[in-house]
Amino acid sequence: SVMVGRRVRRKRAWRRVVRVLEEFEEGCATPVGRLRQVVDAMAVEMHAGLVSEGGSKLKMLLTFVHNLPSGSEKGTYYALDLGGTNFRILRVQLGGQRSAIIGHDVDRQPIPLHLMTGTSEELFDFIASSLKEFVEREESVSEHSKSERRELGFTFSFPVKQTSSSSGILIKWTKGFVIEDMVGRDVSECLQQAISRNGLDMQVNALINDTVGTLALGHYHDEDTVVAVIIGTGTNACYLERADAIIKCQGLLTTPGDMVVNMEWGNFWSSHLPRTSYDIDLDADSPNPNDQGFEKMISGMYLGDIVRRVILRMSEELGVFGPVSSKLHVPFILRTPLMAAMHEDDTPDLREVARILRDTLEFPDIPLNVRKLVVKVCDVVTRRAARLAAAGIIGILKKIGRDGSGGIARGKNEAASRSKMRRTVVAVEGGLYTNYTLFREYLNEAMSQILGEEIAPSVIIKVMEDGSGIGAALLAASHSTSSVDTIQ
Ligand code: GLC
Repeated sequence: SVMVGRRVRRKRAWRRVVRVLEEFEEGCATPVGRLRQVVDAMAVEMHAGLVSEGGSKLKMLLTFVHNLPSGSEKGTYYALDLGGTNFRILRVQLGGQRSAIIGHDVDRQPIPLHLMTGTSEELFDFIASSLKEFVEREESVSEHSKSERRELGFTFSFPVKQTSSSSGILIKWTKGFVIEDMVGRDVSECLQQAISRNGLDMQVNALINDTVGTLALGHYHDEDTVVAVIIGTGTNACYLERADAIIKCQGLLTTPGDMVVNMEWGNFWSSHLPRTSYDIDLDADSPNPNDQGFEKMISGMYLGDIVRRVILRMSEELGVFGPVSSKLHVPFILRTPLMAAMHEDDTPDLREVARILRDTLEFPDIPLNVRKLVVKVCDVVTRRAARLAAAGIIGILKKIGRDGSGGIARGKNEAASRSKMRRTVVAVEGGLYTNYTLFREYLNEAMSQILGEEIAPSVIIKVMEDGSGIGAALLAASHSTSSVDTIQ
């Protein structure tokens, strides 16, 4: 009867675990109807953010980028891409003809953790000295005429209030960076000073967000590219907006015309978003509570940690994993690439899941049925993320009248005019979309579900590898000739 008692207790515990999972799944539900509400909310917030400063949680930041690269850019430019887990240095050779990126060399390095929370001088000195080494290495194998000043495009992927296309002030940090002395300071100036301190002769002549770089590269290759989205460590989008729609800067600009707007959509919020208690806890424990709510449901920095929290809850309250591993209490220990590996484990006995749970979380021997639950948790988290990102993208399309819903003749000509919807390309970059197959599939599926099968084929998603960096070089090139626009 002791044995029977134990079996009954196990059964009950198992049922409770399944219930935890079911509740989580319900909490994360994203039926198409709800996604459509998110689409509408995104479009409404975009509008509000364009009307007045602080009009929405969406900052809708001006970029002063009026003209996207055309393909005639020529010369050799450097780019520095800072803002995720790695930072990259590039040297890009442009040939002056469409699609003629003759070549680019990249150097990728992880950012040492202590520099993400130290001082701005330490961070920028590290970057500038890496840049100097890279330049010396590159120029020792290719000629560089001494008379030419080296020009650099700087991709700095945080919210920046631009004061021109080449300067701007850091509004706040995101994605785990906390360097207090930087907030409110001019980002280009910090880099320019560090470059000089390191004895390098180079001029920062473009300061851009990674989304803007991705849009620039996308547009360079395909002129129908009007939206760019990053889904990596963080998430964000930018798009080309009509000048007269940017109400908050009317009369202030010296150069009128369309402008790229950096939405900072990571901070988007709407009551229609499916939020669970795990999201609330993750936010409260983060270095930026009440900020970046959309980003915390979608991007690579956070997805693994949502999974960890659900597993912890299952393990703690229900004991199915045996004694709770102390590793499971460590924030961010379950990185999103590991989560993706578990989710995409296609071995019949889920060996990869078992290995990761053992090596990373120190669970010695997890039975198959529990491994399956873990895979399910990953699936729920990723599916929600991908579908919300899809809704966000379509929210932008709606705002610019490219979702097939506005201005369409009703009645019998409806189908015909719909099929004539303008081709629209969305440039995408970031590890979640490029390296995580199931994420990509869920996103694409949700796009078709929301747009419907007639409109969906007109919206094309294109991956822009290294777009944020190459795009900075492209913009450095176009700024080195065009006049520079400023705002007081
Ligand atoms: C964060 C940053 C944003 C960036 C995005 C993707 O959301 O605030 O500027 O574009 O991450 O890297």
